[in-house]
Amino acid sequence: MSKVVLAYSGGLDTTVCIPLLRERYGFDSVVTVTVDVGQPEEDLKVAEERGRKISDRHYTIDAKEEFVESYIFPLIKANGSYEGYTLGHAIARPLIARKVAEVALKENADSVAHGCTGKGNDQLRFENIFREYDLRIIAPMRELNLTREWEIDYAREHGIQVPASRDKPWSIDENLWSRSIEGGELEDPSNIPEDEIYRWTVSPEEAPDSPEVIKITFENGVPVAVNDEEMDGLELIRFLNREGGRHGVGRVDMIEDRVLGLKARENYEHPAATILLTAHRDLEQLVLSRRELKFKEIVDQEWADLVYSGLVNEPLYEALTSFIDKTQERVTGWVKVRLFKGSASVVARDSPYGLYSKEIVSFDSDIIDQKYAEGFSRFHGFQGRFYQRIRKGE
Ligand code: ARG
Repeated sequence: MSKVVLAYSGGLDTTVCIPLLRERYGFDSVVTVTVDVGQPEEDLKVAEERGRKISDRHYTIDAKEEFVESYIFPLIKANGSYEGYTLGHAIARPLIARKVAEVALKENADSVAHGCTGKGNDQLRFENIFREYDLRIIAPMRELNLTREWEIDYAREHGIQVPASRDKPWSIDENLWSRSIEGGELEDPSNIPEDEIYRWTVSPEEAPDSPEVIKITFENGVPVAVNDEEMDGLELIRFLNREGGRHGVGRVDMIEDRVLGLKARENYEHPAATILLTAHRDLEQLVLSRRELKFKEIVDQEWADLVYSGLVNEPLYEALTSFIDKTQERVTGWVKVRLFKGSASVVARDSPYGLYSKEIVSFDSDIIDQKYAEGFSRFHGFQGRFYQRIRKGE
């Protein structure tokens, strides 16, 4: 009996994959796997119901905790950002792929399938991991070159209730860290998106007229408390998504360079990510040395590029992560962030490891004898002055 395990979100593309895998690819059995990385409860329920009804066997795997501890926390330490994108979907793919591959092994299936198109990044991220497990890969969306219109009709013909309608044809991808909205009218980058594409955030105009200051405590680069109340990662991120969303924080509208080279218009909302990354970066600025900061920026960028490209099994990823972890040993302290009408700005910070010293830098202190700076200043800019003299022919 031929069996395939499908990474299943419950949305239109992956739902259409179920009958396609039987009819077009001839599989006798289709197993669906939905990995819970913090998408909305209703979506999980829909996936579970549809999966149970249409596939031969359905699994829902709760990977929220692992997602936070082993994926989001390292991302925060790395100030995870690719061209300004907080990597929420990119970072979840390897985890989802591993869970799906593990089910394939358990189910004795030699094939796995996903609903990614041939134009995006997700095909690369999923398949890089699937190939580690030596699994045959089926990508119906890519192989059959299907359009959304065709999928909607095909689903209807198969008596499947369609999750997307023609008038709201967005492709939405949501997990604990980020919500992305693509497609439809958004594909024209000169179009201003309707407010209705957003679910987590209010528009800044509608946000409260008074600001809210939130205190976030970090230990070794990881957030552990909000307003002095200890929270586990999942709870903390959900809390900040709610509070930040209420203040309209974390909307992003950007042009993004996909791995394949295509540029895409992307809309995201991710209040907790915006708040935590802003706070974390600020704390690093207090604690790390100038040279550490400068070098870590390069490391962070390289790290983000690997994550974006789905290359987290690279040895370089391990090496960069080790460097990042070493720097985070001192990223302990707190940061106060002011949320107000779409902005999240740092207003105060403190750390036992801060390299800042009021005693030294203050206008009012005489710990440092300022006259010693004169010698430094005499040499400072020496080559530039020399060059200017030559240029003027002196
Ligand atoms: N552009 C992002 C990435 O490549 C997000 C993709 C999310 N997919 C979606 N169907 N909305 O990681």
